Amino acid sequence: MEYLFGIVITLIIIVSSASCDPKTQPPVSSNYHHMQMIMQWPPTFCGRPNKPCKRSVIMLEFPIHGLWPGNATGHTPFTCKVPPNPTTVKKVWLNDRSLKTSLGFYWPSLVSTDEKLWIHEWEKHGYCTSQIVPDVEYFNGAIVFARQVKNMLSELRSVQIIPDNKITYTAANMKKFISEEVLKDKNIHVYISCEKRGHHFYLKQIHICLDKLLKTIISCPKSFLTRGCGTGNDILFPKS
Ligand SMILES: *[C@@H]1O[C@H](CO)[C@@H](O)[C@H](O)[C@H]1NC(C)=O
Repeated sequence: MEYLFGIVITLIIIVSSASCDPKTQPPVSSNYHHMQMIMQWPPTFCGRPNKPCKRSVIMLEFPIHGLWPGNATGHTPFTCKVPPNPTTVKKVWLNDRSLKTSLGFYWPSLVSTDEKLWIHEWEKHGYCTSQIVPDVEYFNGAIVFARQVKNMLSELRSVQIIPDNKITYTAANMKKFISEEVLKDKNIHVYISCEKRGHHFYLKQIHICLDKLLKTIISCPKSFLTRGCGTGNDILFPKS
């Protein structure tokens, strides 16, 4: 017990000393290549054993998880050093009620309070590129693009990509139909990521690439990552 207590105290000291470093600056941000808007699929996320979601979660919709800077091979290796007082980002939505309402709608947390998720995503991903995309533009940009893809589920249904606990799809088909039906351009490639459970790969997230300045949707760069989807031939798009 004392031993555990010691570990916890040590961790607290490590964590607090890291976040109190007064000279933390956004890392050089020009070496990112694009942004990825990550949309998550709640039935997969909330189906993790022993990790239930909030009761209020709307299951059959793709909420934003975050906007992450990506590099030219599609990786998202950037992690930011957080500013001395990270909660200052709160002013972005406290000063703009309609933005806050939209964030609550398009970017809800599945497990915690929405604000905690927004702050976390800003600290971990958004702040890295804040010299190019300031906080106000980061959060407003998220809403602009989330609106553009808000009918994703019905557009996928129209081509028989339907949430179901038995039917499996190929990753290639899912990506193709997201490009064609949701983004209306077969040349704009997206990524998907999965979580393996049992014999199946469950669709976890859809990654839509945006240009560095968050002005437009772009094609994701060619990438050899499987993002947890195995060979991509056996993807479940679960309903629950
Ligand atoms: C992208 O990031 C990955 C992981 O850190 C790295 O291995 C890869 O070389 C990077 N690619 C480019 C083009 O920077």
